Amino acid sequence: MGEYVLFVDDEDCILDVAEAVFEQHEVRILTAKNAEEALEKVKSHEVAVIVSDQHMPGMMGLELLSRIKAMSPDTVKILMTGFADLETAIDAINRVEVFRFIVKPWENTQLVELVTDALKRYRLIKSIVKGDDAAMLSLVRALELKDPYTKGHSERVAEYAVSIGSKLDLNDKSLKAIRYGSWLHDCGKIGVSENILNYEGPLDDAEIHIVRNHPMWGADVARKARLPETIVNIILYHHERYDGKGYPSGLKGSGEIPLEARIVAVADIYDALTTERPYRKAYDKNKALEMLISMKENVLDPDLVNLFSDLINKEEK
Ligand SMILES: [Fe+2]
Ligand SMILES: [Fe+2]
Repeated sequence: MGEYVLFVDDEDCILDVAEAVFEQHEVRILTAKNAEEALEKVKSHEVAVIVSDQHMPGMMGLELLSRIKAMSPDTVKILMTGFADLETAIDAINRVEVFRFIVKPWENTQLVELVTDALKRYRLIKSIVKGDDAAMLSLVRALELKDPYTKGHSERVAEYAVSIGSKLDLNDKSLKAIRYGSWLHDCGKIGVSENILNYEGPLDDAEIHIVRNHPMWGADVARKARLPETIVNIILYHHERYDGKGYPSGLKGSGEIPLEARIVAVADIYDALTTERPYRKAYDKNKALEMLISMKENVLDPDLVNLFSDLINKEEK
């Protein structure tokens, strides 16, 4: 047994190419020529990822994917479309929870990257459901490798955030949520291409859209893994700002942004400042704290910034 990637297309040549491309990648492929065949395969195999053509005689790809959603909710779904169907495809991402779509004719490397990312997402959710923290962390680390500047980021954020939580005397359940939420806060970046993550210049609109959606996509992973609300909220709201100008929801202040998310936001920004980025060197502790303090009121919760800078200064002594 084990997990499979299922390709569905009425054109044999597409299925042949898919099989050939993944042969070297240790990914096990199943193929189906139509929706009925695909549904049968999903019933009898663990299908981690399904890549389906949109235009097929009989059932269309989108309808197939929405049936798969009901039958096998954890299967990650990718839609293949022609250029003319882009609008349908974008609609599908929202309606049927399609992870991504790929426009024909694709480059093989593009297809491999997409399917590999989809597999990572599937495995991440599975490792969380199983309570396998080691497997989960190794997937988080693999994700960080895509962007060399964020190596170790999630685990350092967890450390900082938990130390803030302990200082606030939060109970074990909250501290555990903070640790988990920190580990996973950027997991929505799975599927964001490394070119975008490492890009030094201004991002264009489509790319900004992708970067800005990582909190929602990450929260989706946590929901699918049936993690508690507190953890979902940490992931979803770690880019909200105290003045309400953050994303995705524009929540404002301690009345609207959950405490755990405000804590992780402080830890996240501090770690970003104290590590090197493509466009600048790392700031030292003092400079970073100074910058955190300048973000009181507008970006970060001022009480938490005070508490955190006390913590770091004490540690220094
Ligand atoms: Fe983030
Ligand atoms: Fe982050």
